[in-house]
Amino acid sequence: MSSAEKAASLLTKLDPREFRILQSIELGMAKYEFVPVETIEKYSGLGLDEVKHWLGELDHKDLVWRQSEGYVGYILNYNSYDLLALNALVRGEIIDALGMPLGMGKEADVLEALTPAGEGVAVKFHRLGRVSFRDTRRKREYLAGRHHVSWLYQSRLAAEKENIALTLAFHAGVSVPKPIYQNRHTVVMQRIEGHQLGDVPSLDNPEGYMDEILVDVRKAYKAGIIHADLSEFNVIVSNEGVVYIIDWPQYISSNHPNAGEILERDVKNILTFFHRKFRVERSLEDALRAIKT
Ligand SMILES: Nc1ncnc2c1ncn2[C@@H]1O[C@H](COP(=O)(O)OP(=O)(O)OP(=O)(O)O)[C@@H](O)[C@H]1O
Ligand SMILES: [Mg+2]
Repeated sequence: MSSAEKAASLLTKLDPREFRILQSIELGMAKYEFVPVETIEKYSGLGLDEVKHWLGELDHKDLVWRQSEGYVGYILNYNSYDLLALNALVRGEIIDALGMPLGMGKEADVLEALTPAGEGVAVKFHRLGRVSFRDTRRKREYLAGRHHVSWLYQSRLAAEKENIALTLAFHAGVSVPKPIYQNRHTVVMQRIEGHQLGDVPSLDNPEGYMDEILVDVRKAYKAGIIHADLSEFNVIVSNEGVVYIIDWPQYISSNHPNAGEILERDVKNILTFFHRKFRVERSLEDALRAIKT
């Protein structure tokens, strides 16, 4: 079970005091590397014995990490960060339930979800710096490296950045999943039913699809943004035959000092793919000129 699915299954089972403690740790993490028990006590408004009891429960459910060197302190992990985000999405009536995984990768997990109106949407959980913790020695090294706090924070920044890019692109008429909501390290967006361009076995009129993508690249560029990780893996061809450009957290501004180079790399990836797979001929110069003029 993925971290998000585990969080979803715990959502209705957690005591409200456990949520209060997790939220207190989250608050404390802005200030402390590991949040001291006294701080959790203060932020949560619960008694010390109660705090200790529920911290034990949370630790048992693998929802906190405890350090005991120097002083006893706690931090969130991806399980609890997922839980807090999901709780916000459910309470905000953005989603009702989490569904099947749509894509589980290195830096993000994408799952389908149902809105209260019964519409299918996609929830992307950003997961920067994720490492496997089956190996306790590695876990110790990771915790000792003190990178954990910044990884949750970096994941939140990635989600915020992706939401900004999707919003800019969507309003500029670029074909992207419509952004719906963003909380912590998650982005909720329109769910596209289809396949990754890289996995599509055949296309009628492949050049037409390539042109659609290049027109989207142009619209985004004119709106001030460059995808910066464009390839056949970040394009979905919907079942209706419409292309959607996904996965925007690393976008850069069209005014970026390296904009030219990065735009060129994006376009080259697309031209190379269509040439290799469908023998479409298009010069890089022509494609770039069309985008910039
Ligand atoms: N809006 C969406 N609708 C349907 N499926 C989606 C949507 N967004 C993402 N996916 C699926 O999830 C996969 C991963 O999404 P995305 O490319 O945004 O994340 P990523 O950061 O590339 O993750 P990875 O670490 O796997 O590279 C996509 O390839 C696609 O199959
Ligand atoms: Mg991707």
